[in-house]
Amino acid sequence: MNIARFSRIGFILAAAGSAVGLGNIWKFPYMTGENGGGAFVLIYLLTITFIGLSLFISEVLIGKVSRNDAVSAFEDLAPKNKGLWKYAGFMAFTGMIILSFYLIVIGWIFKYIFISISALPTSVDDAGAMFGGMVTTDVLTQFVFFNVAFFITIFIVTKGIKGGIEKVNLFLMPLLIFILLGLFFYATTLKGFPLALDFLFLPDWTKVTNTTILQAVGHAFFTLSLGMGTIMTYAASLPKDSNIVKASASVAILDTAIALIAGMVIFSFMFNAGAEPAGGAGLVFISLPPVFADFGALGNIFAVAFFVALGFAGITSAVSIIEPTTLYMTNRFKYSRKKALIILGVITYTLGMMAMFSNIKEYASYVTFNGKGFFDILDFSSSSILLPLGGIAIAVFVGFVMQKERVYSVLKDYMSDRMFNVWYFSVRYITPIAVSVVMINKLFF
Ligand code: PHE
Repeated sequence: MNIARFSRIGFILAAAGSAVGLGNIWKFPYMTGENGGGAFVLIYLLTITFIGLSLFISEVLIGKVSRNDAVSAFEDLAPKNKGLWKYAGFMAFTGMIILSFYLIVIGWIFKYIFISISALPTSVDDAGAMFGGMVTTDVLTQFVFFNVAFFITIFIVTKGIKGGIEKVNLFLMPLLIFILLGLFFYATTLKGFPLALDFLFLPDWTKVTNTTILQAVGHAFFTLSLGMGTIMTYAASLPKDSNIVKASASVAILDTAIALIAGMVIFSFMFNAGAEPAGGAGLVFISLPPVFADFGALGNIFAVAFFVALGFAGITSAVSIIEPTTLYMTNRFKYSRKKALIILGVITYTLGMMAMFSNIKEYASYVTFNGKGFFDILDFSSSSILLPLGGIAIAVFVGFVMQKERVYSVLKDYMSDRMFNVWYFSVRYITPIAVSVVMINKLFF
């Protein structure tokens, strides 16, 4: 199988582009806001350090050694029970679930770029009515912008790893970082900045429940793009002699730094204007625009910069969400990228429309199951169930199924023996046990 190779910086930027997404700038701040701040951040940071990074290295390892799509990778590398392990590779299809609601949110962001250019809402009430109105009644706007997000994503992925994904990331990721840093430096001058630091970094343990913990752990998977074969698939295109440990650590650090920077920016602006942190999924769409509006024309510039950065982050992740299944289909069934993407596109599109209508008041009842809207079901089932399950499968596979010598021989050049043992212990025991305990606790108690 002839799989294209990224350049070295191309791999890092593409993996970082995948990791840094709506998870960092849209989800992380609102989840932190809803879960009371510091304690949630701390659990999230601990999960990234002790579970996320070891799993990231495990996915890169599987991808690099197999140089194959996720399904074939498990099949190739399993010493026995190949037919069974192949099913672990179907974790790639979690991507369809994530992408469908992800594209709706990217659509909202595109719409907000236009709102930022024209007229920002000036009060939180106006902003709430505007966002709520769009999500719950405005089929046309959401439909149009969903389509824009959908076709941009599909178009990039039809161009392949080098000509599409690498190219877009080389250009958008530096720009995204540049914009965010600009906003960050401005935010540090605001009187809301120290308040934001307190909120993000002083834990309030009374706010912690089983749900908080599951959400923090689930979010660690989501934000690092773990548990569905994305990182594995990108790693199949690693350049020949890359230091996979260093590359993994760089991506995890960059991803975490960007989430924290986005959090500091958003909460500095919000606390500066006395806004409430617990705004839920509408946080960046409701609480932030009126705060920007206070700055006059400068505020429009901030708002455009912010939503453009968010859009970039979203697109570079969206392409990585559909690439694993695309590679699987082109690889296993010898489909062209176009044909694979038409099939995958139809699935995503259907799920996406169902999710969109679950937010529209008039139609919600048709796509609400057990009192939960389809949009929320997709979000919850992917982050809190499927990605962690995928993570457990990867950890068990690398920790117990692959031969230790094989694993060691790949990593020994990039890790000291001591570090290898710590990593191996985390993959074999800490990750599967901790993630199972958290899931069982939340789902059954
Ligand atoms: N990591 C992305 C984000 O934070 C989302 C993602 C999940 C991408 C799973 C790929 C795979 O937005």
